[in-house]
Amino acid sequence: MVAASGSGSRDGWSSRTAFVLAAIGSAVGLGNLVRFPAEAAQNGGGAFVVFYIACIVLIGLPVLLSETLIGRHGQSSATVSVRRMAEQSGAPKAWEGIAALGVLGSTMILAFYCVIGGWVVNYIWLFFNDLIQSGVMGGALPGMSGEDIAAIFPSLLEDGMTMSVLDLIFLGLTFYFVARGVSSGIEVMATWLMPAFFILLLGITVYGAFGGAFSETLTYLFTFDFSKLTGPVMLAAVGQAFFSLSLGMAGMITYGSYVGRNVNLAGTSAIIASADTAVALIAGLCIFPIVLAAGLSTDGGLGLMFDTLPHAFQSMPAGSLVGLAFFIMVGFAALTSSVALMEVPTAWAMEKFQARRLPCATIIGLIVLVLGTLSAYSLNTLSGFHPLGFIPLFEGQGIFDVLDGMTAKLLMPIGALLICIFVGWVADPKLIDDENGLTGALHLFWRFLVRYLCPVALAAILVVGLFPDLVSA
Ligand code: TRP
Repeated sequence: MVAASGSGSRDGWSSRTAFVLAAIGSAVGLGNLVRFPAEAAQNGGGAFVVFYIACIVLIGLPVLLSETLIGRHGQSSATVSVRRMAEQSGAPKAWEGIAALGVLGSTMILAFYCVIGGWVVNYIWLFFNDLIQSGVMGGALPGMSGEDIAAIFPSLLEDGMTMSVLDLIFLGLTFYFVARGVSSGIEVMATWLMPAFFILLLGITVYGAFGGAFSETLTYLFTFDFSKLTGPVMLAAVGQAFFSLSLGMAGMITYGSYVGRNVNLAGTSAIIASADTAVALIAGLCIFPIVLAAGLSTDGGLGLMFDTLPHAFQSMPAGSLVGLAFFIMVGFAALTSSVALMEVPTAWAMEKFQARRLPCATIIGLIVLVLGTLSAYSLNTLSGFHPLGFIPLFEGQGIFDVLDGMTAKLLMPIGALLICIFVGWVADPKLIDDENGLTGALHLFWRFLVRYLCPVALAAILVVGLFPDLVSA
């Protein structure tokens, strides 16, 4: 189907709804379900949440619109789309470097993202077996002591072989949908998985609200204590907003390039950002009541999902069923994001080498598999190998952490900062005005944000990411 793609033979979304669902699928992922609740917990609950929402509206949303409009204007892979707009604006075509950075960054994120996706597969398998053995009404993991459960996640992290196989399974699924193309692969997947995701999320949240500590959660997530809003907390919120909306890594340029001319991008961007934020908040309302009701601690980063929740499911009625449903839901969200990440380098390679989709996706899949396997082993056997150890920022870090830190602290803020400068200052305003679907005061406000507020916020995350000593926690 090319109906809405606006250009002859190029693959594209078959409808506006397909684009919106796929873009929400890209945005909603491990970032919403694992990182947002963990960051909110570590950074003082309500203060973080309120500031995060402000960041989404004032900083994330304007950049989201900027990225999609570059893609829609270019109707090509991310690099060619940026080059086209640069050339038409009389600017050097070297601006396409922004998107090249995104191609590289998306590939790097994909590598460690699929390792975490593999962990999710592991827990789906665990709770599936548990459900078969203990039946629907039992609590999860009967017969396991607290220490047994506490050992599940660390022993997975110690097992490079198992993690590599799980990584391969998750990457294989991602590859399958990307290889089938935009309208018959990615779009079909998003139109099935996103509604299923929302049903699961609401179901588990309602369940937790009845059985869990819901009012405690509300106090925790929405009590705004101004004194907790410190510099590091604010920067964590800006970084999380960008990661969650999939910005700075050419992802939304790529998805935008499959959108038809008749779609109002300002409207769709607002829908995408609202849905993404709603999911992050509901994820908090889903996870914390379960954790607080079981009397467990809410901090602990990734452990919140992979260690604390399994403990909590043990004491819940129908715990294995809820556990299984929960991790399937996380898997759906992760898959629609990993597909978006993989589409960026795939679309780039297809255009760069004038090649078909299958060989491009295969080669990218193999590169990601190697990086992913190395990341999995960097948590155990290869933990002493620090590839960029000579750079202070990456001192003592294995490949997994380098991929994460490099993309979150460097590539993402640089990419998004350059996008703002490009759209706000370099590109011909006439080209932009044709695309963005905004008029009047809103248009002026958006322009102001892209030219001033967004670059300043992004420069701040970049500087503090590079020189963490500048702000003390
Ligand atoms: N937004 C996704 C999440 O929240 C992750 C993601 C997908 C992403 N594509 C991206 C992050 C591009 C940065 C750039 O899990």
